[in-house]
Amino acid sequence: MIEIKALVLAGGRGTRLRPITHTSAKQLVPIANKPILFYGLEAIRSAGIVDVGIVVGETAAEIEAAVGDGAEFGLRVTYLPQDAPRGLAHAVAIAEDFMGRESFVMYLGDNLIMGGITSFVNEFQKTKPNAQILLARVPNPSEFGVAELAGGHVVRLEEKPEHPRTDLALVGVYMFDETVFEAVRSITPSRRDELEITDAIQHMIDTKRTVRAHEVSGWWKDTGKLEDILEANRMVLETLEGENHGLVDAASRIDGSVVIEDGAVIEGSVLRGPLIIGRGSRIERSYIGPFTSIYHDVVIHNSEVEHSIVLENSRIVNLGQRMERSLVGKDVEIVKSGTMPRAYRFMVGDASRIEVP
Ligand code: G1P
Repeated sequence: MIEIKALVLAGGRGTRLRPITHTSAKQLVPIANKPILFYGLEAIRSAGIVDVGIVVGETAAEIEAAVGDGAEFGLRVTYLPQDAPRGLAHAVAIAEDFMGRESFVMYLGDNLIMGGITSFVNEFQKTKPNAQILLARVPNPSEFGVAELAGGHVVRLEEKPEHPRTDLALVGVYMFDETVFEAVRSITPSRRDELEITDAIQHMIDTKRTVRAHEVSGWWKDTGKLEDILEANRMVLETLEGENHGLVDAASRIDGSVVIEDGAVIEGSVLRGPLIIGRGSRIERSYIGPFTSIYHDVVIHNSEVEHSIVLENSRIVNLGQRMERSLVGKDVEIVKSGTMPRAYRFMVGDASRIEVP
């Protein structure tokens, strides 16, 4: 077996997830009450990898506070600062000293792959190509890197093509040996002014390196956008078994698989899973519907919430109409005032989005 390291990318600005990402890293948004990034780190550890370099940018402090030295995950983590989001291939170039001559898996910190990466890593170790990519069929290939295969071989890769030739998207998990460093040094910035890993792999193909493709077996999500975060949340919740570590009063009803974390209190409410209620949260005289993750210390009072994610310390009170398909940030208040005139009153951050019926 060859020794393998991991490179996890946790920089980037998360522009498609504003306003949430004005104040926190997109990789730390919780899916079923666990930061997206942690799923990736666990998948890496499960594949037998211990040494991980994490590329961090503007949100370095927050990522470091959450992951620490990696011991909690059974990993040894080294942080690799990137001065600006200059592209995935630039992140690889930064990691050259850390990798030395070893092969590595590169994992984009906002990607979620059900079923992990172990078989992908094993195949690389067995077949020893110069690069191995992971592909998934998607309905919207122009939002991804797109691959074209011929006779099982990768012949062409294009980053976010206007007219994609196939529906095979590049998943945010790649494997490389040391020949990738020469490739990332040989390419020039793309239209979006980034050094694209897609172009570096195309360069490897052009210079007769072996590039293998592997199709994902389970589902995969790049959680860069709200809809994808909600869907990932739904998929993960569907795999959870219900368990109750909180207090549920006799006037409440629980249907389906519902996880209630430590110290959460449920009073006079209906909880219809799959859903999760975080520690210290209070659900009073409310309905919480399927595919909902309520994070820590949230209060939901006399309201209905379904297919949503609510982050810590937020309050939803007397809402009057069911809230669904929503992502509510930290310390947010959504309340019915009851005072005249009957008007909407907002104090909303930059790049927020509010939809009213
Ligand atoms: C990046 C890659 C793209 C890949 C995607 C997977 O896109 O450039 O090729 O398909 O990740 O998540 P980005 O998230 O930087 O737009």
